[in-house]
Amino acid sequence: MPHTDPTDMDPKLGAPLQPHVIVLFGASGDLARRKLIPGLFHLEAAGLLPECRIVGTSLDDMDTEGFREVARGALDEFARHPVTDEAWTAFANSLSFTPTSGGANGLAKAVAAAEADLGAEPRRLHYLSVPPKSALAVVKMLGEADLVERSRIIMEKPFGIDLRSSQELNAALHETFAEEQIFRIDHFLGKEAALNILAFRFANGLFEPIWNREHIDHVQIDVPETLAVGPRAPFYETTGAYRDMVVTHLFQVLAFMAMEPPTALEPRAITEEKNKVFRSLSPIQPSDAVRGQYAGYLDEPGVAPHSDVETFIALKCGIDNWRWAGVPFYLRTGKRMAEGARIISIAFREPPRSMFPPGSGIGAHGPDHLTFDLADASRLSLSFYGKRPGTGLKLDKQSLQFSLHEGSDVLEAYERLIHDAMSGDRTLFTSAEGIERLWGLSAPLLADPPPVRPYAPGSWGPNAIHQLVAPFVWRLPFERAWRQA
Ligand code: BG6
Repeated sequence: MPHTDPTDMDPKLGAPLQPHVIVLFGASGDLARRKLIPGLFHLEAAGLLPECRIVGTSLDDMDTEGFREVARGALDEFARHPVTDEAWTAFANSLSFTPTSGGANGLAKAVAAAEADLGAEPRRLHYLSVPPKSALAVVKMLGEADLVERSRIIMEKPFGIDLRSSQELNAALHETFAEEQIFRIDHFLGKEAALNILAFRFANGLFEPIWNREHIDHVQIDVPETLAVGPRAPFYETTGAYRDMVVTHLFQVLAFMAMEPPTALEPRAITEEKNKVFRSLSPIQPSDAVRGQYAGYLDEPGVAPHSDVETFIALKCGIDNWRWAGVPFYLRTGKRMAEGARIISIAFREPPRSMFPPGSGIGAHGPDHLTFDLADASRLSLSFYGKRPGTGLKLDKQSLQFSLHEGSDVLEAYERLIHDAMSGDRTLFTSAEGIERLWGLSAPLLADPPPVRPYAPGSWGPNAIHQLVAPFVWRLPFERAWRQA
């Protein structure tokens, strides 16, 4: 039976964090080096970690000294702030390593040593930065090592590859951990800008009254990336763009954009509203999707010779509820595209009648838009028609733009989410129910995916994307660039 602990069920949000032993599985992997080790270091340097010991473990034949070298290398390459000797020494002293080959016994001993060092009974945070196929073996090992009590576990996506595998994964996880202990991480939700969607919508009286089908014409969530698949090809071959980006990140962002006001700003209420959006999402039809593959993908190491894995996907979906019925939501993401961006673009309905004469420019630049830029330096823009100064009445598209300047104290997405998990705050994590529902509504597309169409690296995807979005047009590339602050 999974262990349930009253403090897991009822986290005292905002209470000081208890001392922690963090067990980092996949401690020398790409994510650990790029995000997790620098993130933990920054949290500690910012005074946001409680007293901690970090036990790294991986398949590498390494000892604690070797792990400290890996960590130092990761900081030299990826830390966002200068690493002072003092901060490094303190951080290095909190690190230890045990090879995964030592099995459950080896792990139990390493954690016991870290706990003895901390004293009393610290909490445990297990971070599974391991390939999906290894996740359950790690969970089993944690059970055997008796490390379930007092613990929370952070899982990385993908949480399955379809409905069946996600149900099996959740059922297997629940044999060892209670749902309240499981934190499924989606780093898009940890981005400052994602949270700003909630602030923007629910902290103001101005926008919510027009946040519905009466006033919103269509929505685009567009996340083109310039990078290639590169060394991640073996992983990517098992997922593709839809599973890698849409089922996790894009649908989660969509839920924040589309959900009803939660009864409180607390995990259960927000999860409930997100899940209601997922329940109202219509199943994804193959005819509403365009899959693409960039030219050259098949030549990359680790890619099967005739792979039809998509490196690009664009799709149309709809939310069948009172707020959104009839409003199309267009989602797009892909690798090796023309630009890297992460935007939500909301197009408002045009006025019912225009008294402006032909040639005035009314409507010439598309509808009014509200645009969220989810980039690290996040921005917001509201565009509308206004009078061009001078004689006559000519109209120009104008915009109010707002930059959320990122100070150095802003937490990176992973940092925020690790901190939230340590305090037991599940607001920004995804639930078993939500994930299973998303896989369920993906079933028609996954069962009968449309053929992958080629696209040129550096483009915006296959030509068919224009038919998909017609009679509208893709917002990206922007006709007018963001103003520089
Ligand atoms: C990851 C995906 O979750 O998110 C990657 O697996 C993708 O394929 C990445 O490149 C994008 O995240 P970010 O924060 O760099 O935009």
